[in-house]
Amino acid sequence: MTSQVTKAVIPAAGLGTRFLPATKAIPKEMLPVVDRPAIQYVVEEAVQANLTDLLMVTGRNKTPLENHFDRVPALEDALEKRGDESRLTAVRRTSELADVHYLRQGDPLGLGHAVLRAHQHVGKNSFAVLLGDDIIDDGGELLREMLTLHEKTGASVVAVQEVPTEQVSSYGVVAPHLVDGAPESIESNDAWPAVWVDGLVEKPAPEQAPSNLAIIGRYVLRHEVFEVLQRTSPGRGGEIQLTDAMQELAARREELGGVVAVVFRGRRYDTGNKFDYLKANIELAAAHPEIGEQVREWIQSYASTLTNRPTQNR
Ligand code: G1P
Repeated sequence: MTSQVTKAVIPAAGLGTRFLPATKAIPKEMLPVVDRPAIQYVVEEAVQANLTDLLMVTGRNKTPLENHFDRVPALEDALEKRGDESRLTAVRRTSELADVHYLRQGDPLGLGHAVLRAHQHVGKNSFAVLLGDDIIDDGGELLREMLTLHEKTGASVVAVQEVPTEQVSSYGVVAPHLVDGAPESIESNDAWPAVWVDGLVEKPAPEQAPSNLAIIGRYVLRHEVFEVLQRTSPGRGGEIQLTDAMQELAARREELGGVVAVVFRGRRYDTGNKFDYLKANIELAAAHPEIGEQVREWIQSYASTLTNRPTQNR
């Protein structure tokens, strides 16, 4: 089924402090993962789910993002003259992927505020939100499933992943709606369990978390979320939280369509986190058509040298 949803919002205004000093002069979204900047994976995923009208909500010092998705005639001419077809294709592809628009967030008031900035661009349409820090390496399957669930139920849809309890305080967490003590699931296929959601809490302490289902950075939202965001007060960390606005969508299911969570069990990397960023590089390199075989062989021989090696001082 082709979805009616064509617009996606990609918040990319964060300062990238977790990656300093690497992100002192370049945006964190431009850090390469194998051979592409992290943000390109996110844009490609949106396109794979037929979302071709993209709005990036950026900030100061984010012009490299705009440059990356734009044409570079001088570079293209040089590659053409050299007959370097494969690089020429790679360079052109980035500017042809999608129709990318940019808007600055202005005040850094939180994810909810960044999404609210997209109101005028999105209008009265449902839309997707993809967080630039999350790489989901599944060819757009999760997003397509979320769009299908949205069409089927009329609800806003959020992707969640089961995480160990000690990690819940890094995420928004959903409370599944229980019927006779069991989560109210939505008829879906076995690969994609989906449940109705009663509540959402941003970064709860483990003992207060309603479940271990953590929100990962993919959402399909009804436009009513804008009206809710307009009057959402700052929450966790003094920021306007998308999770808090979704809490109201969930609580007013009759009027606002409710919230459905779909459980993702595939590979996801939080490239805002050093360890996950490195894992993304290694795993995606190992699967890379050009260098994958070499990388896999090297990992095996390197791993065999690792026993009892002391940590190096920096
Ligand atoms: C944001 C959301 C949070 C979600 C997370 C996923 O938090 O506020 O609900 O679980 O993204 O990556 P952030 O990581 O930006 O602090």
